[in-house]
Amino acid sequence: MHRQITIRPSGHVFHANDGETVLEAALREGFMLPYGCRNGACGSCKGRVVEGSVDHGLSQEAALPAAERERGMALFCQARALSDLVIECREIGAVRDIPVKILPCRVQELERLAADVMRIRLRLPASERLQFLAGQYIDILLRDGTRRSLSLANPPHDDGLLELHLRNYGGSFSTHVFTQMKAKDILRFEGPLGSFYLREDSDRPAILVAGGTGFAPIKAIIEHAIHHGIRRPMALYRGARTAADLYLDELPQRWAREHGVTYVPVISDGSPGDGWTGRRGLVHQAVLEDFPDLSGHEVYACGAPAMIETAKRDFCSLRGLPQSAFHADAFTPAVAAVR
Ligand code: FES
Repeated sequence: MHRQITIRPSGHVFHANDGETVLEAALREGFMLPYGCRNGACGSCKGRVVEGSVDHGLSQEAALPAAERERGMALFCQARALSDLVIECREIGAVRDIPVKILPCRVQELERLAADVMRIRLRLPASERLQFLAGQYIDILLRDGTRRSLSLANPPHDDGLLELHLRNYGGSFSTHVFTQMKAKDILRFEGPLGSFYLREDSDRPAILVAGGTGFAPIKAIIEHAIHHGIRRPMALYRGARTAADLYLDELPQRWAREHGVTYVPVISDGSPGDGWTGRRGLVHQAVLEDFPDLSGHEVYACGAPAMIETAKRDFCSLRGLPQSAFHADAFTPAVAAVR
């Protein structure tokens, strides 16, 4: 049976299916309630049940003392609605609402996606989940005190494992990943970080521009949008040197077939006779060719700093894109070596 749940003070309404926790139902319908462990231990998801009743499930006493429970408090990662509910809790509206954590993790799997791109999947301790917005990144904390920034390629709803895409430019961390790292290795990271994420209060058509492993956060954003049924038009322009560098190419092809996401791969270093029949040149140039007017659009771009700078300058000055509608995550020089 569906239960209707109203959030105060926002007035947002969502519905919980049988067996779903309040948190699961809210996230499924696109409402970002805060959470941490998702197993009733940390208290991050605590809020008040103002009207209606809940089954508290496996809420632990340390996170929800009996006295608080009697005052109507609940852990929404455990609570299941027994009637329609009115609840009072904070909603995540911006990056600043999400706690940044330092967490240990274990390498679950390494997978070569292209000759020089590795997919790293990380598993968190059983008692931890990482709340983040699609498009954000984490910093891997290395033993020598340096850090390496890597975008999260998995969308927030699919957070059982964290997914990273790493290009091997020959730096010490990427060399380590490509030659020595193995499953079960332990890492530490800090995150989530960054203000590159999908602005869900906008309904402008979105153009997503990804260069190289800048595909990672764009993948998270598109999968997040598809999962939540976000209907605004989306066009992905993906730049790579050669066709072989378009790793995971079947994914955007599927988004195009099944979800109406326009997909335009563009290669910059191909040569006549290489068999490529698609677009050639610079990826931002392809956007300029296809859109005479960007004044009503929003752009999300991730890739090398030169691509980001040129895209911003040309989209804004030549095509009327408002500066505030250009969102970017540039690989900074120190980071470029690993992303
Ligand atoms: S998320 Fe930790 S107790 Fe609910």
